[in-house]
Amino acid sequence: MEQNSSISNLVRKEFIRLHGANEKILMVRSPGRINLIGEHTDYNDGFVLPSAIDRAVYFAVAPAAGSESSITSLDFGESHRFDSRNPVKSDKPWANYLIGIVEVLTKAGHRVNGFNCVYAGDIPIGSGLSSSAAVEAGLAFALNKTLDLGIERVELARLAQKSENEFVGVRCGIMDQFANLLSRQESVLLLDCRSLEYEYIPFAREDLRFVLCDTGVKHSLAASEYNVRRSECEAGVAAIRNHGANVKSLREVTREELELCRDEMDSVVYKRCSYVLEENARVKGARNCLLQDDYSGLGTLMYASHEGLKSKYEVTCPELDLLVDATAQIDGVLGARMMGGGFGGCTLNLVQTGAVKEFKRAIGETYLRKIGRVPPMYECRLMPGTNRMNNHEE
Ligand code: GLA
Repeated sequence: MEQNSSISNLVRKEFIRLHGANEKILMVRSPGRINLIGEHTDYNDGFVLPSAIDRAVYFAVAPAAGSESSITSLDFGESHRFDSRNPVKSDKPWANYLIGIVEVLTKAGHRVNGFNCVYAGDIPIGSGLSSSAAVEAGLAFALNKTLDLGIERVELARLAQKSENEFVGVRCGIMDQFANLLSRQESVLLLDCRSLEYEYIPFAREDLRFVLCDTGVKHSLAASEYNVRRSECEAGVAAIRNHGANVKSLREVTREELELCRDEMDSVVYKRCSYVLEENARVKGARNCLLQDDYSGLGTLMYASHEGLKSKYEVTCPELDLLVDATAQIDGVLGARMMGGGFGGCTLNLVQTGAVKEFKRAIGETYLRKIGRVPPMYECRLMPGTNRMNNHEE
């Protein structure tokens, strides 16, 4: 298991310093994720193809006496105390990702006693690698174990998403929390976001690497435009229903049904819907490519996904487009696309292992020349989802 033992050791040490040595300290590793393809499809009941990666948040958690809980973020250098029986919002934004979990567990009928928690991680924040889902799902997993709540992983993912939707206030889909809890080593997870059925597709290629290039940009548009996109998709579904088709989501809409209503919907809404239909088809295409070891076919689909996100869904930004366009001049790049919600964050690149060094040099040089800095670049490996540490994995 690839893990950052210096961070987890620090977390454990700080826990003991703050709360004393406790034989019940539970150590949990909760990873970030990439998404191979299937962007902005999860909240349209569609398909996604993510995997957890080798960057994670590390938790130390143990029960406390009474109902008061203490949470400490080593990365933010702050602590917060709250009553687990009355979880209310904090003015510390980082704390709300944790308090929200206590709230959803309580609302779901679980009795959440007091606990102490210390955490830190190496998932870059705001880069589209789902550090927030790692915090939410990681704590949900840890409390489930520590307080013996008996909740299954799929349900933990649903609860973590609910917390982000209702407590933190971001209307995200279920991809990030699901990938965090259900991923498997050296596999991607094909998830049907309507039924929550899933399939693992092996991806263990020593000759290929996933490289993330971080724009370093986090546009303030990200959250508001995310919700606008959701509403546009809902408007598309409403127009198609008005036309007589009995559909609940874009997932159920055929190209013919969409074309029949084209004149009855705003042209922007039409573009958004077209993108979602095409992206769902690309996920299925990507599955076939993976099963046939057709990695250049997979790469072509990644480029097509980026083009759709740029011109039809309109969630890219100049820095993301530059990073993707720059790959055209570099040998050994099979595919590249923006990843996550958009308006900044990372691109995901599928690169031949032998070409990675030159890839980094060339991308660094282009970005430096055009944007003025070399972007952080991370190679990542596909890892299992959240689990306890201390060699007690299950
Ligand atoms: C964010 C959300 C996900 C998903 C992606 C876009 O990461 O949290 O639910 O919608 O954006 O694919």
